[in-house]
Amino acid sequence: MNFRRVNFFGWVFVSLTINFADKQQIRNRKTENNIKGDSFFSGIDQSDEQTCEKYGNCQDSDVRPHKCWGYELGCTSPDKWFRKPHCDDTKAGRYFRTIEEKVNQFWKEADFGYVKSVKDSLQFVCRPNSSQAETSSLNCSKELTYCKAQNLYVDLRDIVKSHDRSQGNVFTPKVIGGNCDVDSNTLTEDGKYRMELSSWLNELEDFTSLSFQPSQSKHCDVVVKKPTIFMKLDAVVNMYHHFCDFFNLYVTMHVNGSFNTDVNIVLWEESQRRSLGNFGATWKAFSSNPVLYLGAEYKDKRVCFKTAIFSLLPRMAFGLYYNTPLIPGCFKSGLFKAFSEYVIAQLGIVQKKTLLNSSEPIRVTLLSRGTKYRKILNEDEVIYALQTFPEIQLRGVSYMTWQNEDKVVEKTEELHPRYGDNPKFRNYAFDVREFMRLVELAVIKVRRSIEEHRKEHNR
Ligand SMILES: *[C@@H]1O[C@H](CO)[C@@H](O)[C@H](O)[C@H]1NC(C)=O
Ligand SMILES: *[C@@H]1O[C@H](CO)[C@@H](O)[C@H](O)[C@H]1NC(C)=O
Ligand SMILES: *[C@@H]1O[C@H](CO)[C@@H](O)[C@H](O)[C@H]1NC(C)=O
Ligand SMILES: *[C@@H]1O[C@H](CO)[C@@H](O)[C@H](O)[C@H]1NC(C)=O
Repeated sequence: MNFRRVNFFGWVFVSLTINFADKQQIRNRKTENNIKGDSFFSGIDQSDEQTCEKYGNCQDSDVRPHKCWGYELGCTSPDKWFRKPHCDDTKAGRYFRTIEEKVNQFWKEADFGYVKSVKDSLQFVCRPNSSQAETSSLNCSKELTYCKAQNLYVDLRDIVKSHDRSQGNVFTPKVIGGNCDVDSNTLTEDGKYRMELSSWLNELEDFTSLSFQPSQSKHCDVVVKKPTIFMKLDAVVNMYHHFCDFFNLYVTMHVNGSFNTDVNIVLWEESQRRSLGNFGATWKAFSSNPVLYLGAEYKDKRVCFKTAIFSLLPRMAFGLYYNTPLIPGCFKSGLFKAFSEYVIAQLGIVQKKTLLNSSEPIRVTLLSRGTKYRKILNEDEVIYALQTFPEIQLRGVSYMTWQNEDKVVEKTEELHPRYGDNPKFRNYAFDVREFMRLVELAVIKVRRSIEEHRKEHNR
């Protein structure tokens, strides 16, 4: 057996062949996925019958099946949704009168219904002055998880470094505001969602009504015309956390209603990092321009942004997907599927299945953590047992998990100081025989998949 041990969390059988397809292929696939079939964004004047690209146009589906993401006006029937999630009726059934009710609840929390709830909660934090053509505005969702600003003014001249530790590492411009009317009620909350990666409250609570128009160049050292997206990132070294950034960026694009990739992505940070980790290639799915740092790119300048979006954040309360409680027994969220398809299509990733001989070795990868918590306590035993497995190696990605919870025993001697009550932050011992039984199932599954692929291709 070809066996590798990687320092990380959990255990997975993975070996993925990705190839970056050439530009033309990417463009074709993009066209396919994002214009014809899978994208239902409206350009106000155009209306695509098949995709109900114009809002409110999803009804009357007698000719062709109309499809929509689900949050558009007139797209209320689950049959027209991009994908209807699936729930079984056994788990947590008693909270719902019908299975439809349960599906609907899951759709609101973990599917495109979530996009709808963000859109529906938008309200003006700074109201535009309708008698002025170049007025500013700031429109935010509930708890300031997402905002959209027009003619935004950010003064970054002589910033004094904040040494106030209670402020965390919040980077605060000298002035942030617009030529609009601030509704202070929307900015004075009790702080329960003030946490760094949960909202934009820290950054926007000092938003000011300005007496001048930030669209006029005499007030701006730089005028940024390209649509800008501000982001605050979770840990970029960790795939789970960093993809929560990308996922929320994708949701943000839905809330705004555009897949435009000629955007300016600006991290709300004081200075440039040395690196953005190993998943940096993923940015290309969202922007054709380099990722910038607010404090570094516009240092000591008065910057006027024509249009800017404050992206949904990776650790919002009841946000997606960090520590989100979900209804048990529901799965197949269309939003997650769409995210996955979007990223794969944008990056031109093609999975090549080249293995045709199911007798060839299967590769198993065990991800292992070198931390105090979340360890496999008897990892050595598990590895010893794995090494006795006859020749295996693997292509493709398949996820498997415990089938019998009695075979995983939690033994944490000292609870995590911060996350003691979270089962994720504890240590576990695996029943070695059960572990090997699952590995065997995975190997059988892979062999079968290779065989099927071979037969399909008549080789
Ligand atoms: C801004 O918020 C208001 C609700 O206060 C909403 O009616 C309006 O459509 C929003 N505008 C934009 C551009 O999102
Ligand atoms: C809107 O702009 C007009 C014209 O400049 C000005 O007279 C008025 O006071 C402004 N309204 C508000 C609410 O700022
Ligand atoms: C937001 O949507 C508009 C179209 O409604 C688009 O022109 C703009 O580029 C989008 N902004 C961003 C940052 O993607
Ligand atoms: C399949 O792989 C096995 C093990 O590597 C090898 O012995 C066998 O000859 C291969 N069969 C074919 C048809 O290539």
